Amino acid sequence: MRLQKYMALCGVASRRASEELIKNGQVQVNGKVVLEMGTVIDPDKDRVSVDGKTVKPEKRKVYIMLNKPVGIVTSLKDEKGRTVVTDLIEGVDERIYPVGRLDSDTSGLLLLTNDGELAFKLTHPSKRIFKKYIAIVEGLPNKGELERLRNGIKIDGRVTSKAKVKVLKNFGEDSILEIEIFEGRNRQVKKMCEAVNHPVKKLKRVAFGELQLGGLESGNWRYLNDEELASIRSL
Ligand code: URA
Repeated sequence: MRLQKYMALCGVASRRASEELIKNGQVQVNGKVVLEMGTVIDPDKDRVSVDGKTVKPEKRKVYIMLNKPVGIVTSLKDEKGRTVVTDLIEGVDERIYPVGRLDSDTSGLLLLTNDGELAFKLTHPSKRIFKKYIAIVEGLPNKGELERLRNGIKIDGRVTSKAKVKVLKNFGEDSILEIEIFEGRNRQVKKMCEAVNHPVKKLKRVAFGELQLGGLESGNWRYLNDEELASIRSL
């Protein structure tokens, strides 16, 4: 590969501006200044540096939304050999990892990326990003119980922050709740519902901030679109 093309690939500068850097004697290959424009390098073997600093190709950043099925583990490896979320993402060479986690028996929206900085921001408690869940719970929470869920309820010795809770449907024995929380504590929704004696039978995450699961089928994934990316970057 031509040196200036490789430099552009590394995000040093455009090809033309890279040629200027070469002319100026700022570029070294394997420690030797190179001034010839046609220099060809082997990206796997040669070390290119600009002003003494080694340059490397920029990694493509990928942002993926998965509709995680029940029974799949949100980790990179499972000691018991169960299927993990990254097993479901085929055809992506980048080493992606999940942003936050969903319990194995929870389904729905899971974000995966290789953008460590953004992943860190999105999971930081100070960001207060809301996550929306649909929960099938036993029984029908009464007014007082709904208020407790909304205003904060003690789980693991600490009161949860305010939540939005709506009853969508009641089947007699069970009800469907829409629950929005801003924290991401371990098994939080299940523990909240348990605390008011309406255990969760089924749980699905349908939104993460502005990202909506929409019609994405269980087990399927897609790249985020530009609008979605802008929305999570602006958080
Ligand atoms: N709350 C839970 O209880 N489980 C999840 O997987 C996510 C939120």
